[in-house]
Amino acid sequence: MRGLIGRSLTAAAALAMSTAFAHAAPNVEVLHWWTSGSEAAALNVLKQDLQKEGIGWKDMPIAGGGGGNAMTVLRARVTSGNPPTAAQMLGYDILDWAKLGVLGNLNNVAEAGNWDKVVPKAIQKFSKYDGHWIAVPVDVHSTNWVWGNKHLLDSLGIAQPKTWDEFIAAMAKVKASGKIALAMGGQPWQEATAFDGVVLSVGGPDFYKKAFYDLDQATLSGPQMVEAFKRLEQLRGFVDPNFSGRDWNLATAMVINGKAAFQMMGDWAKGEFLHADKKPMVDFECFRTPGSQGVVTFNSDQFVMFKVGKDKQASQDAMAKAVMSKSFQVAFNTVKGSVPARTDVADTQFDACGKMAMAQLKSADEHGTLLGSMAQGHAAPAAVKNAEYDVVSAAFNGQYTPEQAAKELAKAIKLAQQS
Ligand code: BGC
Repeated sequence: MRGLIGRSLTAAAALAMSTAFAHAAPNVEVLHWWTSGSEAAALNVLKQDLQKEGIGWKDMPIAGGGGGNAMTVLRARVTSGNPPTAAQMLGYDILDWAKLGVLGNLNNVAEAGNWDKVVPKAIQKFSKYDGHWIAVPVDVHSTNWVWGNKHLLDSLGIAQPKTWDEFIAAMAKVKASGKIALAMGGQPWQEATAFDGVVLSVGGPDFYKKAFYDLDQATLSGPQMVEAFKRLEQLRGFVDPNFSGRDWNLATAMVINGKAAFQMMGDWAKGEFLHADKKPMVDFECFRTPGSQGVVTFNSDQFVMFKVGKDKQASQDAMAKAVMSKSFQVAFNTVKGSVPARTDVADTQFDACGKMAMAQLKSADEHGTLLGSMAQGHAAPAAVKNAEYDVVSAAFNGQYTPEQAAKELAKAIKLAQQS
């Protein structure tokens, strides 16, 4: 009997202690969509940095590039009054949440860290609302990239394509060899991601801005957009029959393994090459979508902090500070495939593609050709982005002729703007 009481007392005491400990030990619950091998490895850098400061990590992974799935889960959590401590977010989604007044305020950390000075203005546009810092930028990615298997391309005598026609000719050569020319993941956000570069290749930054920033009806339905959809149709001719629904990292793996020659994808794809121990310019090539050189369609992953109780604010601040530190920005972005979200970090530890990306980001920023990615929510709010996804995906899947697709795009965007 005594033994039993003794045991249960011990158990109760242990439970009380563990509960007390759980309350005392700060932790952050983080919603994100970094579930591929390289993404998880990059996130580990943050988990470890926080662990060193005694901050625990509660993981909320929801797969799906562009964050569509993650945003659905997030809405449910916030609506039920239980937001996570921080959530990965992109562009206009951040501002939409800010408007609802549910986000925290990182001004103290930002002022102490001089964020106003070191974060590029194009990114601050999405990290600040009403003059307050509401999010901390983790990285800068960009979408108008092509990844190529160098061994396969060399064996077929294919030089890096510089123009759209050269790109098409290169893919035709790969296809004729029996290999897959273009590794594609048939999910709307991936098709839209390739479309960022395609649109640029047709009409450059002015056309891109008129279409995706200004949402100008005549531009959206006009001849250049028809040409963009023609190019999208050309691409469709180079994918394998199993592309539908394929995850982006599986498409990257096809290029890594030499099953396919090219992938058109943001530079998170580079993270997968590095994770598979592949070397840029030796095993793989990185180049801008032919015809889009000089322009960078960027997206920046940010951790958005929600309004939480006072007890949790200290962990939010610690997380924000850790993310913005120079050492973290280097350690994370060299694994993730992206570049730092601050301008005062040297490129020494970055690989050849990373060095190129950093230089191009700087130059595009100086020349007014650093543009927000349509596909990654940095050109227009989610309602418009989703309308674009629908039409681009339907067009890629052969449901519209290029002429119809351009008209449908204009129509769908108009409707989304009215909603
Ligand atoms: C994010 C990247 C991520 C990719 C694929 C994009 O929306 O910005 O960080 O790696 O999706 O998951």
